[in-house]
Amino acid sequence: MAEFNRNFTDELRERLSVVDVVGRVVPLTKKGQNWWGCCPFHNEKTPSFSVNEDKGFYHCFGCGEHGDIISFTMKHNHMDFRSAIEELANMAGIKMPEYKPRDQKIVQREDSLFDICEKAAQTYIEKLFSADGEHALLYARKRGFSDEDIKKYRIGYAPKNNIIANKFANSKFLIDSGLCRRGDYGMYDFFRDKLMFPIFNPRGKIVAFSGRSLDGSEPKYINTPDTDIFHKRKTVFGLNFAREAIHRANRSIIVEGQIDAIKMQIGGFPETVAPLGTALTDDHIAILCKSNRNITFCFDGDNAGQKAAARACGIIMPFLRDTSDVKFAFVRGGKDPDEILKTGGTDAMKKIIDDAVPLVDFLWDLTNKNYVVSTPGGRSQAEKFLKKEINKITDNDLKIEFEKEYNARKFNTWHKWKKSNNVSNINLPDVDAVTKNTLIYIVNTFPELAERYLDFLGTLNIDFDGVAGELNLDFKDAEKYIVFLKLQRYIDKLNLQKQDLTSRMLMGDENAREELNKIDDELSSAHQKRETLLTI
Ligand code: UTP
Ligand code: MN
Repeated sequence: MAEFNRNFTDELRERLSVVDVVGRVVPLTKKGQNWWGCCPFHNEKTPSFSVNEDKGFYHCFGCGEHGDIISFTMKHNHMDFRSAIEELANMAGIKMPEYKPRDQKIVQREDSLFDICEKAAQTYIEKLFSADGEHALLYARKRGFSDEDIKKYRIGYAPKNNIIANKFANSKFLIDSGLCRRGDYGMYDFFRDKLMFPIFNPRGKIVAFSGRSLDGSEPKYINTPDTDIFHKRKTVFGLNFAREAIHRANRSIIVEGQIDAIKMQIGGFPETVAPLGTALTDDHIAILCKSNRNITFCFDGDNAGQKAAARACGIIMPFLRDTSDVKFAFVRGGKDPDEILKTGGTDAMKKIIDDAVPLVDFLWDLTNKNYVVSTPGGRSQAEKFLKKEINKITDNDLKIEFEKEYNARKFNTWHKWKKSNNVSNINLPDVDAVTKNTLIYIVNTFPELAERYLDFLGTLNIDFDGVAGELNLDFKDAEKYIVFLKLQRYIDKLNLQKQDLTSRMLMGDENAREELNKIDDELSSAHQKRETLLTI
């Protein structure tokens, strides 16, 4: 194991939850502190295999197997250490390091890159307060940054000339830092005439920059390309400042833009972070989930915001736990959080965050918006989509609860059976109060039955949104009840038809006699079925 640098195995343990790793192959259920499942290492029917998320260990009380994500992957997949590491790195989406001790050269190289970034930041800060940077400072103030904010976030100005290329002409790592490029006439600066926002790693070291254009030119933002110390997909902007607040508030807020993240932190929501010039990735979520799994997404109120929200929802599903509180807020009455804070202050923003929709509702609304659920084809597509999303959930019990929840919703809204026009041509009396209560109870307790007897239930003219008293009825009896009722209604209908036909026959209608015979046959077979039902 010594060959592997400890940082890497630690990073894997930090990055991957043992419950996620084990949960991919062993269905787990949370009970108390631990998660439980049937041990994959010995044959058992009742779960004695426990997994502890916080400690990162699993333990089997049956056979004594014990270990962490690495030993689990080795044993379960019959792999050697190196392959297990490779597998886990793959799962975590991180690159395997070289199979050798951490090279002093690499350490030195990284230190040099940190050093250049730090010195560049100092240069940019000086420039912001110099004559060259006057327009940038004005812009920063216009955007609402106080001198104190500028100092805290180390905001600066990259001038139009090649200040970094000139100042650090002797450094071997200029190009590797992403700050300079080589052109036909020598080195030139990547960031020119930009308001500069340093990007910090979680330990607070500057690893890259995001530069905002000041003259209205596009693109609005450019970021340092990926380097040895900066990986855009894995960097959560603002996390170094937000980490403690995320623990304290027991949640994080994710906004779309960097300026929004800073403004939120300043404006009363210190637990706010943002992805970096890219869509959200599962790395971003995995990093945040290490603190807690309570995330409020706050998206801009435009179409792009809606799209980003749908994407985020798909990404977060595998990270859900039954204790997670994941919500989706949308900015209304302005473009983004920055604008809301500027015009309405913390209160207006708080209202938006408080109004956030829980994930279960967001996913439901999304499904209904994206598919034409008034048609069988649309509903079938919608079902597939929902199923795909729900299947991403690791926790089996939670998955089942999601399924149940959506089954009930599908029944109550998609099939629109309340408004059913499938009413028989003979008007039967409404059902009595006790029957009504029983049916409402059954429909809400056993959505599968509601689906199965949809057509029949739709003819009853009952408002199934009502609340029913608690009943002691199991699935089998509930089904029997519906079938019995259905038969009874059928018999009532036949009797009414019989009455009708008898009077027609008495008035000399010869066809009626023949029909009457048919009805009598039907009636006797329905009576027979009802008797049989009562005996099973
Ligand atoms: P927005 O277009 O919503 O910009 O992009 P914004 O954050 O409101 O910027 P300001 O307030 O006008 O300064 C949201 C995020 O998308 C990325 C950035 O991370 C930005 O914060 N982005 C946007 C880019 O990387 N490049 C761009 O050209 C535009
Ligand atoms: Mn903005």
